[in-house]
Amino acid sequence: MGCRMERQKYDLAVIGSGPGGYVAAIKAAQGGKKVCLIEKGDVGGTCLNVGCIPTKTLLANAALMQKLKHAEDFGISIGPISFDYAKMKLRKDGVVGKIRKSLEGLIASNGITIVRGHGEYVSPREIKVRGAENLLIEATASIIATGSEPLDIPAFPCDHERIFNSSSILNLTALPKSIAIVGGGYIGCEFASLFAELGVKVTILEALPAIVMAQGKHVSEALNSAFRKRGIEIQTSVMVEGIARAGEGLSIKLKDKEPMSAEIALVAVGRKITSEGLGLDKAGVVVSEKGAIPVNEKMETNVPGIYAIGDVTGKYMLAHVASHQGIIAAANAIGQSAKIHYEAVPAVIFTTPEIATVGMTLEQATEAGYTAAVGKFPFQALGKSIAAMETDGFAQVIVDRATGQILGAQVVGHEASTLIAEMGLAIANELTIECIADTIHAHPTVAEAWMEAALMANDTPIHFPPKVKR
Ligand code: NAI
Repeated sequence: MGCRMERQKYDLAVIGSGPGGYVAAIKAAQGGKKVCLIEKGDVGGTCLNVGCIPTKTLLANAALMQKLKHAEDFGISIGPISFDYAKMKLRKDGVVGKIRKSLEGLIASNGITIVRGHGEYVSPREIKVRGAENLLIEATASIIATGSEPLDIPAFPCDHERIFNSSSILNLTALPKSIAIVGGGYIGCEFASLFAELGVKVTILEALPAIVMAQGKHVSEALNSAFRKRGIEIQTSVMVEGIARAGEGLSIKLKDKEPMSAEIALVAVGRKITSEGLGLDKAGVVVSEKGAIPVNEKMETNVPGIYAIGDVTGKYMLAHVASHQGIIAAANAIGQSAKIHYEAVPAVIFTTPEIATVGMTLEQATEAGYTAAVGKFPFQALGKSIAAMETDGFAQVIVDRATGQILGAQVVGHEASTLIAEMGLAIANELTIECIADTIHAHPTVAEAWMEAALMANDTPIHFPPKVKR
């Protein structure tokens, strides 16, 4: 610590400006506190720069492509379709740049100081920043929101030329003929959807017996069959052991199987928590074996006044959870009182078809000791879906038979990402299945699927034949 380093005092210092960090900073600034946001890279973190926003921008191209391919079915003739991936990439960069600029404006409008550089604790109340700015920050309270980064596997490290991770693959300006995707989780499946729609031969290699296995059997099977229909090859229960360059492409070594080849590969085997190099030992903050920072329900670490939020807590790796945790941590850091609850955490996988879940799957409800009823309504039976030619998939509710309380919901198909909000609200407020069945849903909309699923859970379907013919 240079003795001539400039010192600045704040009520709250936040390290990391992703959707966890900047939201926490705004919440604290609203409370009239003097706040700084320390960031060594681009404002907005993974989500804005190399995660949610760029991938969803590219996936919007895929969604349009899919519609265009079916234009004839709507009576629209458009001739041969062609596209320029370099232009798609350029649009993606433009979207990210635009949002980043407005985010910087938003942060400034809240009177928050952005400090550019790498932050490292030198004591529980002091953070040294080195980089574009060199400062010593003294803060009454602080929030660690440093996120995570793609996990690099030593057996096949990314060269970012042919073997990519989820960040570097966003820099492609031309598409390959084929891609092997290692990992059939969130990231693997979203990129599989994107590339397959744009005509790339996609193979998913997943170590577990199914893709997106954590989302439950119904969801996993639905995505599996939709992917296969789109020509995506899925190999499950395969362990990728190595990737080597072979001619113009790659040879991918699989455990107990013949190697396979592909032009490029994407490694999407999970993310590594970013908790190294933060001086946590000097602050006295405990870190778990996996690098996660344990926190209590106030999002406070073992050190009073130091909070942690987002991926670095190792709880959920979801932007919206980080933001919510940020609000809780900031409230507590500025003397208010707030507790975190995780009963209604929505998760969306932006594949075609989209997948969205909240609360428990049937498997989880059964494991938790509930006698659960399932109401599952297919989009095939819904007027709006038929009109839009979007009949793939279903909406499903998991209900506690004893009380009627909604325990969870899953939806696969068109607009799933938007639909899940209603069930999030229902579960967060402990609503029963009658509340949904008794709510007037606008017609014709895809949201009617929830009302129908609720009626089915009670064995009183209206737009679906009864279980036993009357
Ligand atoms: P993930 O944990 O979802 O999936 C990784 C998959 O790779 C697992 O299924 C695992 O079995 C498999 N795997 C690991 N090693 C392997 C090997 N050697 N051979 C074959 N398969 C192997 O992790 P992913 O997809 O990298 O995503 C990371 C995190 O980012 C997720 O936890 C998710 O929460 C978040 N995320 C969220 C998104 C969203 O909300 N839409 C989108 C993208 C990421």
